[in-house]
Amino acid sequence: MTTTLKNSEDTSYYLSQFNELTQKFMGQLKSQNVAKLNTKQPDVIFSDEGRSKEQATQILSEKIIPYLSASAGPRYWGFVTGGANPAALFADWMVSTFDQNVSKDGDSISSAVERQTLDWLKDLFYLPEVFNGVITTGATAANFLGAVVARQFSGNQQGIDIAQVGMQGLSVELFSACPHASMIKGLGLAGFGQQQITRVDTLENSEQMDVEHLSVLLTNSKAKSKIVIASSATVTATSFDDLEAISVLCQQHQAWLHVDAAFGLFERVVTGKEGKTKGIELADSITLDFHKWLNVPYDAGAFFTRHTSLLVQCCEVDAPYLTNNDTQPDFLALGIENSRRFRALPVWFTLLKYGRKGIKEWVKRNIDMASELASWIELQPQFELSVACQLNVVVFRPESKHLSGEQAQAFTTSFLEEVNKEGKIFLSPGLWQGQKVMRAALSNWQTSKEDIELAKASLKSCYKMLVTE
Ligand SMILES: Cc1ncc(COP(=O)(O)O)c(C=O)c1O
Repeated sequence: MTTTLKNSEDTSYYLSQFNELTQKFMGQLKSQNVAKLNTKQPDVIFSDEGRSKEQATQILSEKIIPYLSASAGPRYWGFVTGGANPAALFADWMVSTFDQNVSKDGDSISSAVERQTLDWLKDLFYLPEVFNGVITTGATAANFLGAVVARQFSGNQQGIDIAQVGMQGLSVELFSACPHASMIKGLGLAGFGQQQITRVDTLENSEQMDVEHLSVLLTNSKAKSKIVIASSATVTATSFDDLEAISVLCQQHQAWLHVDAAFGLFERVVTGKEGKTKGIELADSITLDFHKWLNVPYDAGAFFTRHTSLLVQCCEVDAPYLTNNDTQPDFLALGIENSRRFRALPVWFTLLKYGRKGIKEWVKRNIDMASELASWIELQPQFELSVACQLNVVVFRPESKHLSGEQAQAFTTSFLEEVNKEGKIFLSPGLWQGQKVMRAALSNWQTSKEDIELAKASLKSCYKMLVTE
């Protein structure tokens, strides 16, 4: 065995393996169990000598690939998961080949491509020119940036440059109704504290913010600065906050408005500016995710703000080797990382290849398929639709009127386990008004009527299995 690096020979070997393994993996996406449960660390040892390329590839094929989920396939409906559309998949492979560092301008076209991607995204989502931003690793990173820039804004209101001197003495209050877990994490990371959110009431049977309650809370707040975190849409009920009304309140109270629109902004591609996201153009900052409904491979999202200079205040550092002579801020001054993957390329290539119409087509199909599944569930005596389906998420549980509260919760958990074990579909758990529920979130570009029929059969057979056991 030799471990000598033989560049061209190794590259052509890996390219042929890559072709073979990719075809095989993708060919099995629809037929294999969607989730591989109870996986363990591969029993492979690290060695001094390494392996030959053939041995290494064989280990990968035998010990890793069979235990991967079909999350890129059409029936992985856990969390909010997109797949990898073919154009994005190709572009993502090329990103590794190109191996660019999209940190600064001056050595390649890659920063210009990221800027163009952001421009095209504003076009796709009908967002005004004033927004500027950065491609992130996903919505979590974008929400964190939202917290950091809102913090800088609050500091500026009180004469404190937080990026430079820290946040001691800052007087601030945060308001939100149903922030996503990643937003809460972001607030913790930004030093606000995960528990320091003033909870705004929601409207009945919804996760939508009660704007009247927000108004009262803002008026009564003693804090010198205020930050409002709204959603478009929430992860369970897919509720959209009334951003027009909220932005009016934010202006009255000089509050920052951040909107987590990780997947909900795609609704705008279907219904336009007057749909459920109406008013988002008035936000101070917006979170977006692309490994969800844009169906690019993990990981990519975006953070947009209309206050670029505040973002730069937060992210720019002074180091001679990073000196910037450009007229526009470099991406290292607009985000978390200094060295950055060319993750804009799969987004850019998806927009280039499919255009508005192509993207709208799969978003609309997912909405229609979710609605079809929800209508079917409503008609089945074995199941109970927990929330009216408004977008792409179906929230339900097995019927359990005959069971006590605790038994009903346990029944939902067992049913979810059974469905995921059977492997035709993969769902994730949720909580709705104190009840355990199951969520089917449809955001894969390939999901079709055939998949919905398979899901119906799976739900019925798993229910039968459980009640006859
Ligand atoms: C509304 C919302 N915000 C943020 C996130 C976090 O996204 P990610 O885990 O991709 O960073 C999610 C993920 O489901 C989400 O639905």
